[in-house]
Amino acid sequence: MTKKILLSGVKPTGRPHVGNYFGAMKQFVDAQTVGHHENIFMIADYHGLNFIQNKEEMSQLTLDLALDYLAIGIDPAHSVIFKQSDVSAHTELAWIFDTIVTMPYLMRAHAFKDAEAKDKEISVGTFNYPVLMAADILLYDTDIVPVGQDQKQHIEYARDIALKFNHIFCGGNEFGKGGVFKLPEPLIFEHVATVPGTDGRKMSKSYNNTIPLFATREEITKSVMGIVTDSGGPESGGIPQNVYAIHKLFRNESDIKSLYEQNKGKYKILKETLIEDIDTFIKPLRERRAELAKDPAYVLEVLKQGSEAANKKASEKLLEVKKAIGVL
Ligand code: ADP
Ligand code: TRP
Repeated sequence: MTKKILLSGVKPTGRPHVGNYFGAMKQFVDAQTVGHHENIFMIADYHGLNFIQNKEEMSQLTLDLALDYLAIGIDPAHSVIFKQSDVSAHTELAWIFDTIVTMPYLMRAHAFKDAEAKDKEISVGTFNYPVLMAADILLYDTDIVPVGQDQKQHIEYARDIALKFNHIFCGGNEFGKGGVFKLPEPLIFEHVATVPGTDGRKMSKSYNNTIPLFATREEITKSVMGIVTDSGGPESGGIPQNVYAIHKLFRNESDIKSLYEQNKGKYKILKETLIEDIDTFIKPLRERRAELAKDPAYVLEVLKQGSEAANKKASEKLLEVKKAIGVL
């Protein structure tokens, strides 16, 4: 039986946080453990280029993300880890998609509308972001894409683009049957779809409200002490909602309920317990990462092998695409 393909990616734009981990990266490792899929994990450096435009920073952040992947337990013996820029089929396929995707369609994307609302000057790369992401996914016949809620629309775009391509070039029907591209499904777990940050908004690098995934004890303490505690209005029943929402990630439900029941209004104790719980969870990851960081040659070798494996798959698909559009 052929295995289903599970693929995801993260941009190398800074240290990952516990929102990235519980929302997406944990699912990468869990999938690998179950072993039912062929796993492909990408470092989305060409997506990251929209944000990081400095060569030292880019190469450091890329290596860092490779280390992060390995440190959380992604094992190159069971998963392909590669860098997007090493597989030029991604940008080539994105161009082909560009010719069938319309501007009004891309203007409906949340990320574009958000950037526009902030009155930011938007690069063509940012505008086109969903097209490159569709290419990332569709090149590998991906069945499942584990991501957080904020990426759901991008998976829908990938499906739409696959359908449109199949329809135009392969005579596929509107259900996408009989075409070059498979339709991917997102994998999003509701309870971690949007992990809140220390201020109660979505945890995000851009909001400065994160708990870094490989944080030191001091950093954990600083982040937790910075969690905005509501003043315990009547509806909160003495339970600091923001602290509770983060704590839930690190303890099972019954445990946490009784902890918060017993310590109503005792914010200091609750935060201290949270620091302890987060540190217990992060410490082994932090240590594994520090160990791996001693051997950058190994990390580069993993990326080299990953790029060979990814290129092999992607170039086969690109051949199919080129035949379908009539340039081969
Ligand atoms: P950020 O928003 O911090 O820049 P990224 O865009 O690099 O994060 O996201 C990498 C992955 O982590 C994506 O799959 C994204 O959906 C997921 N993710 C990011 N923030 C959260 C969050 N707060 N809760 C759940 N998943 C998240
Ligand atoms: N857009 C994703 C993010 O911001 C990163 C990404 C790029 C990705 N290509 C992908 C995720 C393909 C899943 C599949 O987090």
